[in-house]
Amino acid sequence: MKRYFFILGRNPDLSVLELISVFDNRTIPYKICLVSREAGIFELGEKNQISELIKIFGGTVKIGEIMDEIGFSDDYSEFEKILSASNLIKKYLPSIEGKAHFGISIYDVGGDNLYLSKITSQLKTLNIQIKDNLREKGIHAGFVKIKNRFLSSVSVEKNQLINKGMELVILVSKEKLLFGKSLRVQEFSDFSLRDVGRPYRDKKSGIIPPKLARMMINIAQVDRGDILLDPFCGSGTLLQEAVVLGYKHIIGSDISAKAIADTKNNLNWLFGQFQELKREIYDMNLIQADVSNLYSSIKEARIGAIITEPYLGPPLSHKPGINEVKETISNLSRLYLKAFTQFSKILDPDGRVVIIFPCFEISGNLFFLDILQDIRNLGFETHHYKIDNSWSSYLKFTKRGSIIYSSEIKFFQREILSFVKIK
Ligand SMILES: C[S@@+](CC[C@H](N)C(=O)[O-])C[C@H]1O[C@@H](n2cnc3c(N)ncnc32)[C@H](O)[C@@H]1O
Repeated sequence: MKRYFFILGRNPDLSVLELISVFDNRTIPYKICLVSREAGIFELGEKNQISELIKIFGGTVKIGEIMDEIGFSDDYSEFEKILSASNLIKKYLPSIEGKAHFGISIYDVGGDNLYLSKITSQLKTLNIQIKDNLREKGIHAGFVKIKNRFLSSVSVEKNQLINKGMELVILVSKEKLLFGKSLRVQEFSDFSLRDVGRPYRDKKSGIIPPKLARMMINIAQVDRGDILLDPFCGSGTLLQEAVVLGYKHIIGSDISAKAIADTKNNLNWLFGQFQELKREIYDMNLIQADVSNLYSSIKEARIGAIITEPYLGPPLSHKPGINEVKETISNLSRLYLKAFTQFSKILDPDGRVVIIFPCFEISGNLFFLDILQDIRNLGFETHHYKIDNSWSSYLKFTKRGSIIYSSEIKFFQREILSFVKIK
């Protein structure tokens, strides 16, 4: 087993849940070594293709391999050995012609804050030391200057660090320093193209960020042969991500004819833009339907997973008052319970629902949709993920077993819930 680091995106709880869900679902043997709000270190079986893995995740921005480590009590010469040209050439640098490009990033994996700031303050010195060490061995190298502790994946890609040098990643844990090199960064430009580059976007009714859509599909843990449904498909963001992930049987529905037309056009655009996706292997159905009549409209009772961002209430341009929030919650509760009544008819036994509920913050209090018991009465249970107890405390689940995906708008958050149909 080799050790790999996974640098997490903006919502670390969901990112870690996604990693574990994918490893479990694809039967990739793994062991959690360390988890923090910034990174996860996992042992993975030998045969894992990191180039394939990075394409799956929405919540992981870099993957790399751990190459060295030293304890805090170790002699400083151990640290110098790691940064020596011979060690870097042997383990970190690819064979390149011409000038090497490198950069250093420092991440926290449960380390002491003081130590973290100490090593961060030495970043410039470390960069110069590496440059000098390499020069002595005849390698001309330049490094990427940074203001913060770490390089963005955009910067790693733009500076060609992986092909033409290295991103040296230093992870600070409680007892030791781990050193690794980045192997792959997230395909951020593809995510962005599928978000802002597609032809039809309906900002008024809201668009789910593609990376969040991706994470929701992954935490549903369903087979790629199963039928996947988004009953509030809007302009089709979630369906696009399902296609890219290789889900072959896809149904999208929405009450609005315009939404169905937008989804259709966006999917056509997707197949044109990403030529590696072969349209003929996908079986896709788009249906205009009110979620309250879903069963009679789609006449399908073998859905493997429903993954959706439903209608989240009227757009909020200002901080809502308590009465406005209560009214929205009451209207949405009725709509969502109608939806779950239909879901119970069309889902396979053991089928999954991964869904977003809105959650409002007023004067420091969070207001949730209080319909979990009604959902249980309809034959669903909260899906419990297999996470080793010693690590589950590192993930912030709400008391309701959900995860909050924070948005930039302070008074509005997305709550991510995962259910399984039990009868
Ligand atoms: C927040 S948007 C979904 C956005 C979508 N996830 C995307 O990224 O494009 C909610 C969608 O729910 C649809 N909708 C509202 N009420 C509905 C109902 N009763 N049945 C089905 N769809 C409904 C709206 O037409 C809208 O497209």
